[in-house]
Amino acid sequence: MTYNDRFIRACKKETVDQLPVWYMRQAGRYDPDYRKIKEKYSLLEICQQPELAAEVTLMPVHKLGVDAAILYSDIMNPVASIGIDFDIVANVGPVIHNPIRSVADVERLKPFDAEGDLGHVLETIRILDRELKVPLITFVGAPFTIASYLIEGRPSKTYIRTKTMMYETPEIWFALMDKLGDMVIEYLRAQVKHGSKAFQMFDSWVGSLSPRDFQLYVLPTIERIFASVADLDVPKIYFPGVSSGELLPLLHNVKADVIGLDWRVSIAEGRRRLGEKFAVQGNLDPFILTGPMDIIQREAAHIIDQGVQEPGYIFNLGHGLFPEASLDKLKQLTEYVHTYSREALAKR
Ligand code: CP3
Repeated sequence: MTYNDRFIRACKKETVDQLPVWYMRQAGRYDPDYRKIKEKYSLLEICQQPELAAEVTLMPVHKLGVDAAILYSDIMNPVASIGIDFDIVANVGPVIHNPIRSVADVERLKPFDAEGDLGHVLETIRILDRELKVPLITFVGAPFTIASYLIEGRPSKTYIRTKTMMYETPEIWFALMDKLGDMVIEYLRAQVKHGSKAFQMFDSWVGSLSPRDFQLYVLPTIERIFASVADLDVPKIYFPGVSSGELLPLLHNVKADVIGLDWRVSIAEGRRRLGEKFAVQGNLDPFILTGPMDIIQREAAHIIDQGVQEPGYIFNLGHGLFPEASLDKLKQLTEYVHTYSREALAKR
């Protein structure tokens, strides 16, 4: 099988014969084989076994026929290296045993050491680089999204402690943004050094901020991160998470190649807000996957019709897959995006 580079081409806004597809959280609980592995091992235990983590990464690639793999890991993995104790609790998410609430807590954070502390993840990347016939996407959590877990101590709906820290003690907030920014930059460099072919920064929860707070408290760190890794010769994706439509016009100085859109903004409107510079990725509402196949295809076609208007479009969901999604529908959706977009592109 020859190497499938459609995903990389689309990131670079080059022409493609059919649209590339991958799904955020494509390795996961909707797959019965994954659930079987999870009966024996926790997420972190899987990550510590490179052969197994590589196998879990490959499962959706083979089963769904997607055009890219995403490393099986979690956005929280690197924070263990800087001295944060956490668990990933089933049906809850990351729970932190020593949340960050003071200057002393930030000062206590250790320097990040990818080679020393995340050797198992880097080894998984090397295995995948040898085995894959599609590009490997690796990822990091963005500083706001990671900070929200570190400060709240667990998933939050309001981000009240996070916002309180931003407003009341901006010096602690910015010290934390600096440390997490450094961690993210070093981790991305290590990922690419060991064989990653593209990366995505997940800022899942930053859409909880007003555009003005995003600009004042978060954007400088995002711009610094992408400027610091601009020399890495791989496509770079920024996903500003759910409800991020109002933030899009602020991203023009971010040195990313692709911006991920959630489902509240259309592809055409997202492109309008972002300007010409970026390729776009997204944005089927993942919960449409609960519906019948004809509705799923109708909505996918609506998105694809906009996507093919210009080069630089990658089909994906507007957020991660959820455990109740059906493997069979996902497989059908992947095939549909490929065949429908091939025809749509041929007509252009
Ligand atoms: O996309 C993939 O298939 C690669 C693997 C991946 C995981 N987490 C594995 C995982 C990726 C890219 C992530 C990113 C991640 N982790 C994000 C950003 C993406 C997003 O959804 O916005 C966030 C916010 C986290 C933090 C986190 N980890 C949450 C909220 C949860 C869900 C908790 C639950 O049980 O519902 C996790 C756990 C987690 N990470 C699972 C997986 C497959 C599910 C639980 C498990 O199988 O152990």
